[in-house]
Amino acid sequence: MAQRQRLIVGNWKMHKTISEARDFVAHLAGLLPKSPHVEIVLAPPFTALSAVADAIKSLPIGLSAQDVHWEDHGAFTGEVSPLMIKDLGCRYVIVGHSERRRHFGETDAMVNKKVAAVLRHGLRPILCVGETGEQRANGQTERVLSGQLTDALAGVGKEQAADVVVAYEPVWAIGSGQPATAEQARDAHRHIRARATALWGQDAGARLPVLYGGSVTPDNIGAFLALREVDGALVGGACLDPTQFVKILAVAHTNP
Ligand code: PGA
Repeated sequence: MAQRQRLIVGNWKMHKTISEARDFVAHLAGLLPKSPHVEIVLAPPFTALSAVADAIKSLPIGLSAQDVHWEDHGAFTGEVSPLMIKDLGCRYVIVGHSERRRHFGETDAMVNKKVAAVLRHGLRPILCVGETGEQRANGQTERVLSGQLTDALAGVGKEQAADVVVAYEPVWAIGSGQPATAEQARDAHRHIRARATALWGQDAGARLPVLYGGSVTPDNIGAFLALREVDGALVGGACLDPTQFVKILAVAHTNP
């Protein structure tokens, strides 16, 4: 069987100073599995992007921002533009993470503007979608995912589809130590791919990388990657320690 390409993204959230970020990369560099079919991406906070960009220069590691504003520049105190992110050497930007939606009032309309801005600059959005525990309990998971995808991807044409990554992150699974079951992930990923196929057609839908995120650990990543529907993972808590993160990468490496 041909090796599948995996994408493992470490979302540091609001963790690590510049010196801690440098230490992390130095430690990781010594442990990295050589795996051409696992793409590794780190998403440090804005303050550490420059230092990490520098530290990973000779390593097979890509860089992502955790958020972005949709304008190139202007009077938007505290915000960071896609131009600035690109200038730092990022290739990816996490967009619409549920923590941004929940704590900072980010709406689907804002997420849509961010996705468009990221694509306009030739960067790749990692678009996060996912239902809350209450929505799942009420049988609304598919409706919520459909709504988030339709709104966030409005105006994104077939020709831009190849740059889009979607992360399925059930809100109730994030940071809770209670990951989705393999079956829940499989069903949600299938639904996401079906929506992408309806939007962009069979080829683009089939090629869309769909990551799973929510309490991923070295112990459970294998069950997710064993699913045909899962192309990789967006990892939070378990990516902060290089030893743990490397264990996750090792599982991805051995899971064709
Ligand atoms: P977690 O976070 O792995 O700590 O659950 C995942 C995420 O929020 O991207």
